[in-house]
Amino acid sequence: MVEQTVQIVSNERNTDLYFRLVVRAPQIAPTVQPGQFAHVRILPLKDALLRRPFSIFQVQGDTFSILYKAVGKGTEVLSRMHTGEELSAIGPLGHGFTVPQPGGEIPLLVAGGYGMAAMYLLAQRSPQKGIVFVGGRRRVDILCEDDFRALGWDVRATTEDGSHGEKGLVTQPLIAELKHGNAGRKLFACGPTPMLKAVGKIAEEFNVPAELSMDEHMCCGVGVCLTCVIPVKTGDGWEYQRTCTEGPVFDSRHVIWEVAK
Ligand SMILES: Cc1cc2nc3c(=O)[nH]c(=O)nc-3n(C[C@H](O)[C@H](O)[C@H](O)COP(=O)(O)OP(=O)(O)OC[C@H]3O[C@@H](n4cnc5c(N)ncnc54)[C@H](O)[C@@H]3O)c2cc1C
Ligand code: FES
Repeated sequence: MVEQTVQIVSNERNTDLYFRLVVRAPQIAPTVQPGQFAHVRILPLKDALLRRPFSIFQVQGDTFSILYKAVGKGTEVLSRMHTGEELSAIGPLGHGFTVPQPGGEIPLLVAGGYGMAAMYLLAQRSPQKGIVFVGGRRRVDILCEDDFRALGWDVRATTEDGSHGEKGLVTQPLIAELKHGNAGRKLFACGPTPMLKAVGKIAEEFNVPAELSMDEHMCCGVGVCLTCVIPVKTGDGWEYQRTCTEGPVFDSRHVIWEVAK
């Protein structure tokens, strides 16, 4: 993990409120593992010292990219930044997804909204191609289907308003798929907490392993401030663990949903 000043290579609109940012980060990009994130300080935001966490979407040579939604002060300023401008990034951070072994489980990825960004490197580095279930409220929330298709993955899209793919929740086609067969499958999910909770329940019902990337608010991003903790089962009890360091990816069987902060 290093802190470095990174230069913007491109910062383009992806769909509606979503943007793709590519930065040159020679000390960070080569060591990124699937599911890890970068903690970014948006330098023109002079009155805001806090960094913003973003999943690392793609890596190419000495660059990495993120897919982000302009939701507030930081991401709106970020969306107006141009090629050549600088940001400060700490990364790669966090404990990411376990990449399947050759001949191992068939991965079923479940992604909601910007959760798709966290799953791309896993799909790219998995020796087995599987299915990626992508969901969002509207068509504009389905961010990077073509990137997954270009890797040879089967992409099943759902939108809640039916404007793209099957109408409904992303978990519906997942359940249908698991009813066909659950042996040798493993779930990986990233998205809003209610979706993660539903995926955890489905994993339990169908008796398949699952890794969930938890979405918690973060301040320091490096394990010091404890804003990001969640309750996690351990041996014979439970403890709070930091999503920025022990996570963001956890085994779904270890996440305790009932004792939410
Ligand atoms: C591990 C991790 C990976 C992430 N990856 C991505 C990504 O790939 N793409 C992306 O667009 N966003 C991602 N996020 C969320 C992103 O960090 C926030 O959207 C961002 O910090 C908002 O900054 P802001 O200054 O624009 O918003 P603020 O002005 O700080 O807040 C605006 C709104 O955003 C909400 N918000 C802030 N943090 C989060 C969060 N962690 N989760 C959900 N909502 C939040 C606030 O509650 C508020 O409603 C990730 C978060 C985490 C913890
Ligand atoms: S964000 Fe500070 S400990 Fe995790």
